[in-house]
Amino acid sequence: MQAVIFYFSGTGNTWWCSERMVEHLKRHGIESQMISIEQTDPQECSRSICAADLVGIGYPIYGSDLPDSVKHFIDDILPTAPPQKPRLFLYCTQLMFSGDGAYVYADAIRNRGWEIYSAVHLLMPNNISMSIMPLLFSNDPVHIERRLARTDMRIRHMIDRMIAGRPLKQGHSRLSTLLALMQRAPFRTYFPVLRDDISVDDELCTRCGRCVEICPVGNLELTAEGVRASGQCILCLRCYNFCPVSAVRYRGRTHDLRRGIPYRGPVPRFRPELIAAHRHHE
Ligand SMILES: Cc1cc2nc3c(=O)[nH]c(=O)nc-3n(C[C@H](O)[C@H](O)[C@H](O)COP(=O)(O)O)c2cc1C
Repeated sequence: MQAVIFYFSGTGNTWWCSERMVEHLKRHGIESQMISIEQTDPQECSRSICAADLVGIGYPIYGSDLPDSVKHFIDDILPTAPPQKPRLFLYCTQLMFSGDGAYVYADAIRNRGWEIYSAVHLLMPNNISMSIMPLLFSNDPVHIERRLARTDMRIRHMIDRMIAGRPLKQGHSRLSTLLALMQRAPFRTYFPVLRDDISVDDELCTRCGRCVEICPVGNLELTAEGVRASGQCILCLRCYNFCPVSAVRYRGRTHDLRRGIPYRGPVPRFRPELIAAHRHHE
C-alpha cells in the first residue's frame, strides 16, 4: 500500500503532524510521501494520487476556517478522484477548538468526487504569539513537548483505526458546525481587516528578504522603501514568528521580546524554508 499526504503548515505544527503520520503508516507497512502544497503543481499532485491507496490533506485552523491557500489547493490543484478512488483522510491542527474544522471544506472536496474516509482534529501548540492573546501562548519547551506527546498518541490511534477499517470521523455533526459558526462567521467578516494588519518596521528591518522568501502566498515584496505587503496575507504568522530581528508588526506592534521568542515551530529543526515555495529560484 502507498499513501500521499498533502499539507499546508504556516509555522510547523501541521508539518510535524504529517511527519508523525508517515512514521505511523510505516509501522503498518505503508510507504508514504508528504508534499507541501506550496511546492506542488497539478501534474505532480495527480501523479502521486494515481499511485496512492490513501490520500491525506492537512491544514491549520484559523477562526474555525481553513487557510485560503488550502482552499486554492482543493479548488485548483487537487484532481477529481481517480477511478480507483483512494481513501481520503482529512486532519486539521488547532490550539483548542474548531467545531467542524476537518469538515469545513467537505462540500468542495465531495464535489470533486472524493468521499471522506476519516477526519480528525489534532491539538497543537498555539502559534499566535502576539500580545493580543497573552494567556494562551507559551514557548516553554516542556509544555510543547507534553502537547506533542499527547498528539502523537492521537495520530497513532487515528492511523490504527483507519487501517483497521474503523476510521475516526470528528467534527461532522450538526452541533459541531453550529459551534464552529460562532467563531467562523465573525472571523470571515473581520478577515479582510485582520489580514491587512501585517506590516514591517523599516527601522528594525535589515532587508534580509527572509519574510519575502518564506511567505506562502507571495504577499510580501522587498521594495526600495523596505518590505511591503500587497493584501494577500492569509494570517499564517510565518513572517511574524520567523523574522530574525522581529521587525514584522501586527496591528502596528512588533513582537514584545520580553514575552520570549515568538513561535518558531514545535521542534527546533523546523525551518519554513523546508516547506515554502522556492520563490528565490523563480
Ligand atoms: C489567524 C489564526 C487563527 C487561529 N484560530 C484558531 C481557532 O479558531 N481555533 C484553534 O483552536 N486554534 C486556532 N489557531 C491556532 C492554530 O490553528 C494552531 O496553532 C495550528 O496548529 C498552527 O498550525 P501550523 O503551525 O501548521 O501553521 C489560530 C491560529 C492563527 C494564526
